[in-house]
Amino acid sequence: MKGIILAGGTGSRLWPSTIGVSKQLIPIYDKPLIYYPLATLMLAGIQDILIITTPDDQAAFQKLLGDGSSLGINLSYEIQEKPEGLAQAFIIGARFTGSESVALILGDNIFHGSGLGRELAKCTSPDGAIIFGYEVTEPQRYGVAEVDSQGNVISIEEKPEVPKSNLAIPGLYFFDNSVIAKASRVEKSYRGELEVTSILEMYRREKKLKLKPLVRGTAWMDCGTVNSLNDACDYIRVIEQRQGFKVGCLEEIAWRNGWITASELKQLSKIFNSNEYGQYLQRLAL
Ligand code: G1P
Repeated sequence: MKGIILAGGTGSRLWPSTIGVSKQLIPIYDKPLIYYPLATLMLAGIQDILIITTPDDQAAFQKLLGDGSSLGINLSYEIQEKPEGLAQAFIIGARFTGSESVALILGDNIFHGSGLGRELAKCTSPDGAIIFGYEVTEPQRYGVAEVDSQGNVISIEEKPEVPKSNLAIPGLYFFDNSVIAKASRVEKSYRGELEVTSILEMYRREKKLKLKPLVRGTAWMDCGTVNSLNDACDYIRVIEQRQGFKVGCLEEIAWRNGWITASELKQLSKIFNSNEYGQYLQRLAL
């Protein structure tokens, strides 16, 4: 399976902080935001990943992450000229995806929870589409799913004024290869975007849409507003300081997945000049 991270957008809800720098490059506690969705794909076992950015920001992402080879992964880059919707990721990423299945994660979505990587790794050969459901208090900010007692999706709506449930759809989707053809058939919504929910609706009509609930203990944060961004920083700080483990540490995941050796991890730690992040990697590599 291939992976796409959509890291475009203007980040206008966070201006002035995101005028000079991409939202997905600003720090969430001790590392840039994009580390977290990249970590999520890596935890699912995905190694071939496309990062879609705005034209202005691409060079900064390449400076940060390079071609991924030091992490045992393969990173490619494409540009989204204008923020015209999530479904556009599959049009931009059609050549990259080829005939494979593909996971899409939004560059501002953070997932954390015990066993999550193992659960996601089970989704990498989907027969149709797999999405997740997460109970939230403000579903009108998201795509919202209505499910029957068997867990079948009855309806999906993008940011409904009167949500039919509290079940938000997080920005992590696993698709079979038909997503490429489906994306090309999506028409712009009232907000002028090619909506991922239109693609999900096509799968639903084909009875090929599966929703898996994310259990209560899982954290999902979207960093869409100043407050939710700060909540995410607090969450990561509290978990990391309490346990001494880092969340979304790419070098650690690459090593634990067996994609780099302990001595390669040690080598990577030297980049950080013995700062706290580097010391953490050094301790792992012992
Ligand atoms: C997008 C999707 C929405 C989803 C959300 C998750 O919203 O359109 O369905 O629930 O991401 O973060 P947007 O980021 O475009 O507001």
